Amino acid sequence: MFKDFDDNFDFESNILEAGAYFSYPASDPEALPIHMSTAHNVKDLDDLQKRYDEHGFCYNRNRNPNRTALAELMSYVEGGETSIACSSGMAAISTAIIANTKAGDHVLSDQTLYGETIEIFTKILAKYGVETTFVDFTDLEAVRSNVRPNTTILYTETVSNPLISVPDIAEISEIAHANDAILIIDNTFMTGALARPLKMGADLVVNSLTKFANGHSDAVCGAVTGAAKYVDKAYELQVLLGTQSDPFSSWLVCRGIRTLNLRVRKQAENAAALAEMFEKSAYVKAVYHPSLASHPQHELAVKEFGKYFGGMLSIELPEDREKMNKFMDNMHLCHYAMTLGGYRTTMSYPPMSSHSDMTKEERMAIGISDGLLRISVGIENTEDLVKDFEQALEAAYGA
Ligand SMILES: Cc1ncc(COP(=O)(O)O)c(C=O)c1O
Repeated sequence: MFKDFDDNFDFESNILEAGAYFSYPASDPEALPIHMSTAHNVKDLDDLQKRYDEHGFCYNRNRNPNRTALAELMSYVEGGETSIACSSGMAAISTAIIANTKAGDHVLSDQTLYGETIEIFTKILAKYGVETTFVDFTDLEAVRSNVRPNTTILYTETVSNPLISVPDIAEISEIAHANDAILIIDNTFMTGALARPLKMGADLVVNSLTKFANGHSDAVCGAVTGAAKYVDKAYELQVLLGTQSDPFSSWLVCRGIRTLNLRVRKQAENAAALAEMFEKSAYVKAVYHPSLASHPQHELAVKEFGKYFGGMLSIELPEDREKMNKFMDNMHLCHYAMTLGGYRTTMSYPPMSSHSDMTKEERMAIGISDGLLRISVGIENTEDLVKDFEQALEAAYGA
């Protein structure tokens, strides 16, 4: 279709042309190739028009084959009409929210969320005339009574970060829709393999694909999925802001998602086994995991998730820094890492990471004490993992 090198031209010119296009059939590869090209050549103006009409590939920031592949995969995983793939979870969250709000709107948000999402509301939206109220989304009356006539977005997470609370998505979506507002859910902790917020009534789902979706702790990426009328607005904004995922990360995440189902089930089983052990441990003050009958939303979690309650759990240890350090130092199979969702078990300390922007008083008000550890459970052998946590607790807190 396109010209290649030509003997009438000099070496200086031909070295730029030779081998630029495949001269052999390369269709239907078993694994998706990585399309790093910033642009795709068009033949002439008619071809250009055709690309526009068919949403074909012209310029990477607008559209790229690997990004499109990931978006299509995410639409399937979350059961949504369409998706965009973004440069990070935060890019997905901010693009989805900013595209669907305007000055004068009000947002009603859950009070326990990933800390930087809270900052999008308080530091970014606030600057542009969008006010946010934060309430506990497990309290439906608080949600209902804080909706205002100008509330356009209700925002929460399928399982909240870091307290692992479970909001009633079906009920909250009804409250949103009765006010002509939309419900946006961050499904990062559960993923479409274990929970489908769109099927429960949400309008948009955002994901940090950096986490369980990719699962290998080697790519930063995100996605927005849902009805075209909302995702298309996010796409338009993404093209202007440049919040799109790059081809290599998109490719890595597509590859990661192929094993998502296997990983998250094993992670959920391991998390449930750990939660059971922690609940019996004399050294653990509180355990937060929806698999436990003692979890305040256990019944709801059974309704929303079935038998897999996700790989995220939190525990509260005595607020003694020296002993917490000893506990961490004694772990072999769990590493401290400021991320989650990888195939290995990791832990993080919200007061010094995701919620470090809050004062101690602000954190305590929403239940995040200085003894809280968040654990992202991996796919290790269940018994090995339980034993390793038990011995580390004993080494730090035992007599
Ligand atoms: C629930 C949740 N949403 C969004 C994000 C942001 O994702 P990213 O780091 O890919 O921007 C995180 C990060 O930890 C998260 O835990």
